[in-house]
Amino acid sequence: MGFPLRFLSSLSLCLLALLLHRATVTSGCFSMEREALLDFKAGIHDTYNRLSSWVGQDCCAWEGVICGATTGHVVMLDLRNTNIYDWKLRGERMNSSLLALSHLERLDLSFNDFSGIRIPEFIGSFKKLRYLNLSSTNFMGGIPARLGNLSSLHVLDLSDALHFTSHVDNLHWLSHLTSLKHLDLSGLNLTDVPDWFSSVNMLPSLQVLSMSSVGLDTIPASVVHINFTSSLTVLDLSYNHFDSTLPKWLGNITSLTHLDLFYSGFYGVIPDAIGDLGSLTFLDLGDNQLEGTVPRSMVDLRRLKELHMQGNRLTGNLSDLLEQMTNLIILDLQSNLFNGSMPSSVGKFSNLTELNLAGNSVGGVLSEVHFENLTRLRLLDLSGNPITISIGQSWVPPFQLRYVDLTKCQLGPQFPEWLQFQTQIEKLYLADCKIAGTMPAWLWNISSSTITALDLSNNQIGGKLPSSLKFTKLVILYLDSNRFEGPLPTMLPSTLDTLFLSNNSFTGQLPIWPDVQSVALSDNMLDGGLSSSICQWTGGLEYLDLSNNKLLGEIPYCLGKSLQNLYILNLGKNHFSGEIPHTIGFLSGLWHLQLKNNSFSGELPLSLKNCIGLRFLDLAQNNFVGSITPWIGDNLQQLVVLRLRSNMFSGVIPWQLARFEKLQILDLANNNFSGSIPHNIGNLSTMRSTSQYNDFCYDELDVFTKGQDLYYLKCSIKLMKSMDLSNNSLTGEIPKGIGDLAGLKNLNLSRNYLQGKIPWEIGGMKSLESLDLSINDLSGSIPESLSVLYSLSYLNLSYNNLSGRIPTGRQLQTLNDPSIYMGNADLCGPPTSKSCFDNKTTQIDIQEHEKEISDWLWFYISLVLGFVMGFWIFFGILFLKDAWRHAYFHFIDDVYDWVWVQ
Ligand SMILES: *[C@@H]1O[C@H](CO)[C@@H](O)[C@H](O)[C@H]1NC(C)=O
Ligand SMILES: *[C@@H]1O[C@H](CO)[C@@H](O)[C@H](O)[C@H]1NC(C)=O
Ligand SMILES: *[C@@H]1O[C@H](CO)[C@@H](O)[C@H](O)[C@H]1NC(C)=O
Ligand SMILES: *[C@@H]1O[C@H](CO)[C@@H](O)[C@H](O)[C@H]1NC(C)=O
Ligand SMILES: *[C@@H]1O[C@H](CO)[C@@H](O)[C@H](O)[C@H]1NC(C)=O
Ligand SMILES: *[C@@H]1O[C@H](CO)[C@@H](O)[C@H](O)[C@H]1NC(C)=O
Ligand SMILES: *[C@@H]1O[C@H](CO)[C@@H](O)[C@H](O)[C@H]1NC(C)=O
Ligand SMILES: *[C@@H]1O[C@H](CO)[C@@H](O)[C@H](O)[C@H]1NC(C)=O
Repeated sequence: MGFPLRFLSSLSLCLLALLLHRATVTSGCFSMEREALLDFKAGIHDTYNRLSSWVGQDCCAWEGVICGATTGHVVMLDLRNTNIYDWKLRGERMNSSLLALSHLERLDLSFNDFSGIRIPEFIGSFKKLRYLNLSSTNFMGGIPARLGNLSSLHVLDLSDALHFTSHVDNLHWLSHLTSLKHLDLSGLNLTDVPDWFSSVNMLPSLQVLSMSSVGLDTIPASVVHINFTSSLTVLDLSYNHFDSTLPKWLGNITSLTHLDLFYSGFYGVIPDAIGDLGSLTFLDLGDNQLEGTVPRSMVDLRRLKELHMQGNRLTGNLSDLLEQMTNLIILDLQSNLFNGSMPSSVGKFSNLTELNLAGNSVGGVLSEVHFENLTRLRLLDLSGNPITISIGQSWVPPFQLRYVDLTKCQLGPQFPEWLQFQTQIEKLYLADCKIAGTMPAWLWNISSSTITALDLSNNQIGGKLPSSLKFTKLVILYLDSNRFEGPLPTMLPSTLDTLFLSNNSFTGQLPIWPDVQSVALSDNMLDGGLSSSICQWTGGLEYLDLSNNKLLGEIPYCLGKSLQNLYILNLGKNHFSGEIPHTIGFLSGLWHLQLKNNSFSGELPLSLKNCIGLRFLDLAQNNFVGSITPWIGDNLQQLVVLRLRSNMFSGVIPWQLARFEKLQILDLANNNFSGSIPHNIGNLSTMRSTSQYNDFCYDELDVFTKGQDLYYLKCSIKLMKSMDLSNNSLTGEIPKGIGDLAGLKNLNLSRNYLQGKIPWEIGGMKSLESLDLSINDLSGSIPESLSVLYSLSYLNLSYNNLSGRIPTGRQLQTLNDPSIYMGNADLCGPPTSKSCFDNKTTQIDIQEHEKEISDWLWFYISLVLGFVMGFWIFFGILFLKDAWRHAYFHFIDDVYDWVWVQ
């Protein structure tokens, strides 16, 4: 019986001992510290219950609280939020009672939200604090200078510690933090701290300095002494705007291993001194405005693992630069002016994973030798270099690429067979590589695994596509501008959203592609109608270009209902017919409607007014009838291009048209419009303005200007401003307000029945390059003001009833082709052969003409007088006569233009 008893008592002894032990640990949590922590907790809004363990006596066991093993005091408070989406503690108060944690060495509140309060001053009183992390805490206000009292601090991370509206006044307090090794101030607003460098220069032990994206615009060009030359290893000044050359003293910080100056506004040449940083393993000088030859000294940066110098204007021979950098893992030199040929030393870079030389002038021939040892290469981008890639058809690469861009390299004519061994490619861009022949069958197989983007456009690849494209992950496929033929594939990968097959020789009908979003099939030989297939393309079709095919039939009624995401619809240059269905009005997101060169008929559906986002409307060369209803000016406020040319529209041009604030191209030519030109036509704001600010690229467009049809490619149209009302039945006078359209480059009012005089105000159309008023009933003299249109290079006034002397001088001097004026019996003077003094009628015109000249003369005299008699008297005269004032301002503009042109 004794045994169990003894056993029990020894068991209870053990339990007792255990309990006792536990009690000593519990007593390690000092009640003052516990109270302080509870005070702290009381000021926190803890939505996610992260502090739920903060109950009971033993605060050392609480989440995020760590006590010293021997002293039992709280030494660390780590409330770092590791959940990037949320899980934040929200600080509402912070009580100075926290100072009871007098042994605190580490305080980490990073990624929580204190946007209601300021960084408490009392934090500066934690005498033993060695680590303070307030990264991304969103405190309000500035940084308390008392942080300067933390003389034991080794690590201070204040990156993004302040709310974006807060800024920092000065960094003088930093100078007392003599033990500091790691300082991160990234994301703060230091715009008002021009002397930042002298403050950080007080820190002799500094190893890491991060000041990325702090709005700095000053950096000293020279310094007398740098305190941290032998300690600093990491310097990050990226995302600032120094607008300065690279300071030479950077080369004195020889301990640097990591230098990041990305996107910081540095310009000029890279100083030789950079070569002194022989310990560098990371150098980023990308996206600055550096130029000139890369210094020879850079070859000494042999330890570099990452070299980023993309987006500058650097020149130099690549072979020289890279000779020794055998440790490189990432080399990004894209978008510079490097030349020379690809160094064969690259073959030794056995750790290279990313090689990006896109957009340089590197030439030469690249062969297997260059790739021999590049077993880790993942990214190869040589696009836009005049480089020839000459690799044997049986070569098996030592690497597995993920990203290949060889656009515009000389790669063909044979399809690169070595790609068949690349089974992990995600993006393959081989546009414009001079590849000819047919696509190898294996391509469809490697693609079936990993590829998401494939671009083979602008080659001479022929053959048929398989009826089912089996790429399992393909999202983007560009095969445009090749020689593909035969029917379109009927089955597409369900992942595919962008398919560009334009400019090939595809035939047959449109298949049903239910999932695509952007489809370009222009310039093929497709036929058949839309109706059977298009309405089943329900996967959110946004962009559809079917132009220049042989498609026919009507636009199906269902189109507007099933394709409501459509914003670009191009059906131009086909054989479509019938009316535009009223369901077009359901396409409320439509930007671009191109229906030119078809056989559409009927009136425009009233529902078109619901397409309030419409920017581009081209209905030219169809058989539309009816009038333009006035609502068009009220509803389609975004219109930039309105082209109704060569239809049978009639009725008056509604004055509401002048409300189009963005209209740049107005082409109503070759219709049957009657009545007069709207009196307020001069209100068209964009045509009034001489600036070009259009950010939208439209469809190609032809504009009839300078007597010929000029073809504008996609984006060049933003430079054109044109109004063509020719060949209608317009009557009445040309409104004077037209002179306000100072930005208009092309005005064609020919072949109408316009009467009256050419308004004097036409001289205000300063940008005019082409003016055609021929074949009307205009009379009176040609206004002198025409001679100040300095850009005018095409003029046609033939077949009117104009009379009097043809103005001479300035721009008109160059327009000396008599055909400009022919068919006006009463015009005289050069370039016509008729002298101006042969009969009475011209005499009258000459008087009128001389009166005009005398107006100008008086105007110039008053100008001279003005300068002689003083500014105000001159202005007085100007105010006397409205026309003079007008002329004065025109004159000033002209002088300005003249100076500019000179
Ligand atoms: C803040 O601390 C003071 C003493 O320092 C105390 O009296 C007060 O109750 C505390 N406030 C809160 C909300 O805990
Ligand atoms: C501060 O905390 C963040 C995450 O909360 C961490 O990423 C960062 O490295 C810390 N800073 C330092 C200097 O340790
Ligand atoms: C930084 O602060 C200054 C005021 O000191 C302010 O003018 C500037 O807009 C702020 N910059 C940013 C990016 O908020
Ligand atoms: C270097 O640091 C020491 C100690 O912080 C300071 O006294 C001295 O002024 C600093 N030198 C310069 C040039 O800032
Ligand atoms: C940088 O180094 C050069 C030569 O090594 C020396 O003459 C110069 O004084 C140094 N500059 C600074 C600021 O330390
Ligand atoms: C490649 O990297 C490994 C470590 O990942 C290193 O041991 C080796 O020396 C490097 N090779 C070259 C040529 O730099
Ligand atoms: C590839 O590596 C081997 C072994 O290190 C070396 O002999 C050869 O020269 C290297 N090739 C190139 C092109 O540098
Ligand atoms: C005046 O000139 C016009 C045009 O040249 C001519 O038709 C007309 O006969 C002339 N009249 C006289 C009186 O010479």
